[in-house]
Amino acid sequence: MPYSVSKLTDFSTRALDEAITDVRDALREEAVAVSDQTQFKVHRDRWLARKNGILTQIRDLWLKQAPPEARAEVGKRFNELKDQVENILQTQKMELELRAAEKVASKRIDTLAEWKSMALGPSVDITLPGIRRSLGAEHPVIRTMHEMIGVFRNLGYSVEEGPEIETDFYNFEALNFPPNHPARDTQDTLFIAGQESKPLRDRLLLRTHTSPVQIRTMQKMKPPVRVVCPGKVHRNDALDATHSPIFHQIEGLAVDTNITFCDLKGTLDHAMKAMFGSSVKTRFYPSFFPFTEPSADAQISCIFCDGKGARDGAPCRNCKASGWIELLGCGMVDPNVYGFVDYDATKVSGFAFGMGVERIAILKYGVDDIQLFFNGDVRFLEQLG
Ligand code: PHE
Repeated sequence: MPYSVSKLTDFSTRALDEAITDVRDALREEAVAVSDQTQFKVHRDRWLARKNGILTQIRDLWLKQAPPEARAEVGKRFNELKDQVENILQTQKMELELRAAEKVASKRIDTLAEWKSMALGPSVDITLPGIRRSLGAEHPVIRTMHEMIGVFRNLGYSVEEGPEIETDFYNFEALNFPPNHPARDTQDTLFIAGQESKPLRDRLLLRTHTSPVQIRTMQKMKPPVRVVCPGKVHRNDALDATHSPIFHQIEGLAVDTNITFCDLKGTLDHAMKAMFGSSVKTRFYPSFFPFTEPSADAQISCIFCDGKGARDGAPCRNCKASGWIELLGCGMVDPNVYGFVDYDATKVSGFAFGMGVERIAILKYGVDDIQLFFNGDVRFLEQLG
């Protein structure tokens, strides 16, 4: 007769001892008949199955039915019994696994390590080639930025940064863009909504250029100042091959006594040669920015056709056959700007310049679409990494 759990009527220590001994004897007896892993599974379920396994039945019939004064004792004994049954079954399971492994190996297995390697098989095949993780690389835009910063560092410039969310004051007013001045329209600005109740100068916007960092720098530093300010800028521009609503600029500012337009030209000529090669020429074309006077656009001789305007007998597409490529805006800091930062315009003078990093990277790497920098296609990035 296979063992079955019966109700307890007597909950004395002696009666409990007896009932528990019967359970253990039954388990041992039944275990003898189990000779392989399939049989073991049935055996294990008979004893441990949550639904109607022998231990569950014991809990329901003995523990739950015990009178209140015996419940603590029965609970303690039940837990001991449960641990024992689980241990016995676990040991038996391991023995059966070992025997199965021995059968596969057709030999006796003596050490645990030996058994593990039999049971699991060799876990590492050291003859297979490894998996190489690809190393990350600096993004071409960031690399170009660092290269340009490096050029100016070598000239003694330090690096300043400012916030991307700016006030109208820093982005426009202190840079001598009066309210409603048409020059503001040249920078398609993204304004933060719901600012109408604030005075104009405090309203927030996404900076359209890095020039606000000039103001922040001059507010906290007295001349001499020589800084470059790299960073991200935002404009309400539609995407195309040469425009992106988010791009990067590097701003430069030098303020000291007796700084002249010659210093501006010499500095930028040196920087362009350092970036594009010593055969590159620069020229300066009159332009307008509210915060510089005079202002200029700096151009470099076309690096694709060596400034000839034609390549392989055809007009050069990169410079529209002009031999020159426009690269950056610059000029002498407008004296009005010094008024906003408490510099004495009669004592100091300086120059500023600002350039688009993507534009430089496009020229340097011969990329034909600015979107390639932003859509994260590793096949593109890998070529420049
Ligand atoms: N901030 C200007 C722009 O984004 C560029 C510039 C910077 C021009 C500094 C002159 C001096 O268009």
